[in-house]
Amino acid sequence: MKKLAFDSLDSTSTHAARLLDENESAPFAVIAKTQTAGRGRSGRQWESPKGGLYFTLVLPPEKHPDPKHPGSLPLWVASQTAAFFHEKFSLRLTIKWPNDLLFAGRKLAGILCESRMQGKDLGPLIIGIGVNLHDAPPVTEQQSVALEEILQKPLAEDALKLGEQLADFLWEKTEDKDWRKTYDFFALENGQLYTDGKRLASLYNVTKDGNLQLIDIQTKEMQSLSSVSHGYRWVYQEKNPLLLADIGNSLVKLAYFTDASSDKALIARLDLRDESFALDLARFLDSIPYPKPWIVHGITVASRPWEKLSEALNPHRLTLVPVPKRPLRVNYSAYNFSQLGVDRVALAEAAKQKYPNEALLVLSAGTCITIEAVSKEGAYLGGYILPGLQTKLNSLHLRTDRLPLLKIYEEDTGSLDLFGHNTKEAMLSGLIHESIALIEYLGRTLPEKPRLILTGGDAGILSRFLSADYHEALTLEGVRLMAKGGAVC
Ligand code: BTN
Repeated sequence: MKKLAFDSLDSTSTHAARLLDENESAPFAVIAKTQTAGRGRSGRQWESPKGGLYFTLVLPPEKHPDPKHPGSLPLWVASQTAAFFHEKFSLRLTIKWPNDLLFAGRKLAGILCESRMQGKDLGPLIIGIGVNLHDAPPVTEQQSVALEEILQKPLAEDALKLGEQLADFLWEKTEDKDWRKTYDFFALENGQLYTDGKRLASLYNVTKDGNLQLIDIQTKEMQSLSSVSHGYRWVYQEKNPLLLADIGNSLVKLAYFTDASSDKALIARLDLRDESFALDLARFLDSIPYPKPWIVHGITVASRPWEKLSEALNPHRLTLVPVPKRPLRVNYSAYNFSQLGVDRVALAEAAKQKYPNEALLVLSAGTCITIEAVSKEGAYLGGYILPGLQTKLNSLHLRTDRLPLLKIYEEDTGSLDLFGHNTKEAMLSGLIHESIALIEYLGRTLPEKPRLILTGGDAGILSRFLSADYHEALTLEGVRLMAKGGAVC
């Protein structure tokens, strides 16, 4: 394909249109190091400093990937451009309808699709793509990010080369008739929230024609949006504080992050069964600084506690919304993903984010003990679900006549001998050493020596016997990553 590279142009898309007027025949690509009159969607300007990628691909109309649904072109472009970055940089971007490419809620690339008519028929397709490489100029309604900041390496020098590679990639992908799978892989999941500042609506579907269908979460009315200038924004698009909830069977862990990228969180651990639950919740919410969040992003493994928390949040005008189970850095092809709990995905993702180049065993000790194994390359190897320490003690008592009911948090497990010398010691020593033995066995057996990461209420007990990193709020860190989307795989 013909590729025309320039140091500077008014706009690669405007120039492409001029070339068409001069009878240049599609396909061809126009790439520039900078633009003096870059154009964005809705008549906006696209700031185009040197060090970015400014690129326009012109396709002949017969190469429209889905001619029966002409409106789907922007979605196709977004999907294939996301696939390009995935393949080239192992970078998982999020597509926000119809075609913004985001990393962790911040805009990395914008796409402007234009077409010409040839009489009554569709003419050449003019596909303009702008990618922030070195700088991240501000864009309306949205935070932005540059590729160099994400990947932590210089790239701006390669802008023209990158544009040429993208042109070839997209040209090849015009043959991909099943592109919708690619779109769904990168796009926001159904159920994600949009807001116009007053109302909340949840994403119901994106149609074959590329329309966005939203359902108002109060009135349940459906709207179908075909134009981008509709006033609704994805809730994570803004620099909002994040309030997250990890809802267990009885405990709710809440974490408040001042913004999506801050490491500091206010954390509360509340017991849904406590009479003082509503009061404790109110106290925690009071301690959160202004502006107060109005959405709580939650995950749960149980529906009743979800409803209970949701009701308790109502008087505080807080809406509880589910966080999608979104794979980011980890590849789950070795597991039945639909059966993998969102809490376990959160753990695997948060651990991989912290230790990207290491093999990992993530052990969460609560009502259950779960273990997630992730390889150095980020493959999810599988996991274990075991009874938790207290669950085992309960069951020993329940299933026998004579064994006492021990409460793990009341017992001194710090100075256990290898073997017990009375009933209580025998129960405790067996309980702890059984878990340690399993971890040591896994450490010996796995081909790559894993780093052990502990989390969960009972992790402190096990950490005395194991060499491990302890992260108190690992699940919530994973929830935060999944809520915002985007990752370096
Ligand atoms: C948006 O508003 O998100 C779309 C921005 C599209 C910008 C690109 S940069 C290359 C091409 N030339 C332009 O003038 N615009 C597009």
